[in-house]
Amino acid sequence: MTKQSIETIRTIAGLRARVAEWRLKSPSVGMVPTMGALHAGHVSLVDAALSGCDRVVVTLFVNPTQFAPSEDFGSYPRDEAKDRALLSEMGVAVLFAPETAEMYPPGEATRISVGGPAEGLESVQRPHFFGGVATVVAKLLLAGLPDRAYFGEKDFQQLAVIRRMVRDLAIPVEIVGHPTVRAADGLALSSRNAYLSEAERAVAPRLYATLQDVAAAMRTGTVPAAALAEGCRALTDAGFAVDYFEARDAETLASTGEDPVGAVRLLVAAKLGRTRLIDNIAV
Ligand code: PAJ
Repeated sequence: MTKQSIETIRTIAGLRARVAEWRLKSPSVGMVPTMGALHAGHVSLVDAALSGCDRVVVTLFVNPTQFAPSEDFGSYPRDEAKDRALLSEMGVAVLFAPETAEMYPPGEATRISVGGPAEGLESVQRPHFFGGVATVVAKLLLAGLPDRAYFGEKDFQQLAVIRRMVRDLAIPVEIVGHPTVRAADGLALSSRNAYLSEAERAVAPRLYATLQDVAAAMRTGTVPAAALAEGCRALTDAGFAVDYFEARDAETLASTGEDPVGAVRLLVAAKLGRTRLIDNIAV
């Protein structure tokens, strides 16, 4: 396949015009929303989009409304030139990289408020988070109106919130979930892994190992509460400060009782030093 070089678009009108032009020849359009600092996890989403769609737009926007004032918006890793070179090499047609004022015009006053799967878990420590994510993802989907948009299971609650929002607002885009990409030692890839010290990086894979231990215990009949308590203990002993470690219904993210019906997902968030890590697996 010959690869055309990537086009960078900074305005919603520009993106709409380009997608409208593609539509004349009716190729399918895929979108991969990101905040940049691309790693192999993002790359696998882009690969899936390139295999499933004729044209792919990757969005790069570090979305201020999903960061609390105390969080790392200012220091979030940014390297647009490097990201663009990688995406161009892969055959992505468009990088949509708007300025903040394009996504949040002066005087903007609208937010999407999300309940259901947004409740609990991440929202306990980060109550602002899913409102910001839902608002920006709705704006990005409406700007490009792709046939499909790709999101990672790494952020499992985010994926559930986006699926719920797209259904509730009848946004005509198919949401495709993609499995978590991990380092060889099991650590889920994340832009924030760059914050880990060498010693913390050596301990970090315990998060995934513990998820696997708890899932295995539940499969062999240990009651969920006991298996989860043991998981919390193991993580604390390894040096993590656990924010939550829960079993939830895999689709609705509703809390499950002692005898869950339907697919169950284990979700965990824990701090290692100053770095907050999240992960999840199917039971
Ligand atoms: P970001 O953290 O850049 O992630 C962009 C996409 O990559 C998300 O769908 C995320 O789940 C996925 N991803 C990250 N690490 C992954 C991994 N190890 N394996 C598979 N997929 C992975 O998530 C966001 O940005 C933002 O909240 C966004 C949706 C762009 C809205 O601002």
